[in-house]
Amino acid sequence: MKVVVIGTGFVGLPHAAVLSEYGHEVYAYDIDEKRINAYKTGDREEIERYVNEPGLYPVIAENKDKYLFFTTDITEIADGTDVFFLCLNTPPNRDGSSDLSYYLSAAHHLGDLLAKRQNKKRVVLVNKSTVPIGTARLLESIMKEHGVENFGVASNPEFLAQGNAIDGSRSPDRVVVGCDHEADFSILRRIYAQFVNHVRIRYLETTPETAEAIKYVGNTLLLTYISFWNGVGARLGETHPNLRMEDLKIGVTSDSRISTWGSYVSNGAGGSCFGKDIQSLIYQLNQAGQPSDLLQAVYNINEYQKVYLIDRAEYEAGFNFNQKSVALLGLAFKKRTNDMRDSAALKVVETLLARGVKEIRAYDPLANEAAKSYWFNPEKNHLFNRIKYFNSAKEAINGSDALYISTDWEEFRGLSHTIQQEVKPPYLVIDGRRMMPDFRTLVENGYQHISVGGTYLKPTDDAPGMAEKLEAELA
Ligand SMILES: NC(=O)c1ccc[n+]([C@@H]2O[C@H](COP(=O)([O-])OP(=O)(O)OC[C@H]3O[C@@H](n4cnc5c(N)ncnc54)[C@H](O)[C@@H]3O)[C@@H](O)[C@H]2O)c1
Repeated sequence: MKVVVIGTGFVGLPHAAVLSEYGHEVYAYDIDEKRINAYKTGDREEIERYVNEPGLYPVIAENKDKYLFFTTDITEIADGTDVFFLCLNTPPNRDGSSDLSYYLSAAHHLGDLLAKRQNKKRVVLVNKSTVPIGTARLLESIMKEHGVENFGVASNPEFLAQGNAIDGSRSPDRVVVGCDHEADFSILRRIYAQFVNHVRIRYLETTPETAEAIKYVGNTLLLTYISFWNGVGARLGETHPNLRMEDLKIGVTSDSRISTWGSYVSNGAGGSCFGKDIQSLIYQLNQAGQPSDLLQAVYNINEYQKVYLIDRAEYEAGFNFNQKSVALLGLAFKKRTNDMRDSAALKVVETLLARGVKEIRAYDPLANEAAKSYWFNPEKNHLFNRIKYFNSAKEAINGSDALYISTDWEEFRGLSHTIQQEVKPPYLVIDGRRMMPDFRTLVENGYQHISVGGTYLKPTDDAPGMAEKLEAELA
């Protein structure tokens, strides 16, 4: 089928690439010329500067100029296209509602083009962007306003997780398609032929409104799991020195009714979706006069997790950040991505700068460059000049007074040795991801340790017992 993917970011580019792999003729369209030019070069580094996903580059290399084409102009292409996927960014407004300006601008442009087409065969416009419940209906009215004929609208929300976009697109848990007409379901069955009647992948056909709601309910439930463990598990672990967090997790999730997913404690979940989607659903419920207390609590807990360890360092360890140098490991919102959106590190940096740190020694295996452009705005805030970037954890730690671990990159698990080599006690380690199973050695050698879900450990007479407890917990 002839397909146009509108918006080629974290969702649109992998989606276009995987569709081309299945033999559709795919046009990946974006208004960002620099981005499209980078994709057109076919150069791995250029492409990954925009979207860095494992397995993405080989799919593009294989299909570019055969099944996959990049363009900033779909005037000619629109005529004769079977399906348009709208993959536009929908960031949050200040009041939590979704900013639909990019989406609406693309929809009106499309309405203009489709109203002029010669080929009047049925065309389906599919929302892949996460948009408020009722947006497919809005899209329908926009097309009618432009005088478009013989079209259908659909909601086909994207569930991929960043860092796993290609595998997630090739082998999703489910494909949800919401349409009004059999003709449109039928076209989308041809698009997703590999998933229809699949033995494992559930292919669900429903109404557009239900499909839109599935995305919001699914994402906010995932964040609820995360906030549950942070709001209950972490709090208990920080209250009772003899409570073993990992055993608590295993004991609770051994109940087959309880999800193992999300059963970890952390310095909050970031990324472009969780925070935005929950704020949007709260807004949508409130607009409808419905209460949203549960979702509000989930959101608040998640935001609190992102910075509370800095407060703990101050009031439990008595650490004064003023004029200190802090190593910050992990800048993107999770491992295996360079995406900085809503990363916990953003809040950590802001808070550390507000507490007067002399410098932040930052390192992320993938996101240093992305972070530089995020924070390189001395005019907006000259304090960002205090962030220095390094090429390894070792270099970042060297010369610092404290360490904050914000992302769960595997390489951070082996840090206790590096710490002992590079910095002297009573150096403070703040672990937002519980990354150090062998912390015993550090505490025994005079270092201090605060982790999410654990009590503050310092080298005192009773330290050996405490350190053993921690080691057992993290093993
Ligand atoms: N990132 C994720 O992991 C993820 C997962 C599931 C769903 N989603 C949802 O998918 C949507 C897209 O997210 P994303 O992360 O890919 O966003 P993104 O910001 O990475 O990409 C959006 C792209 O749209 C382009 N664009 C903006 N206006 C345009 C226009 N008028 N015409 C053509 N292109 C235009 C931008 O230049 C950009 O390349 C959002 O609604 C998001 O909530 C994202």
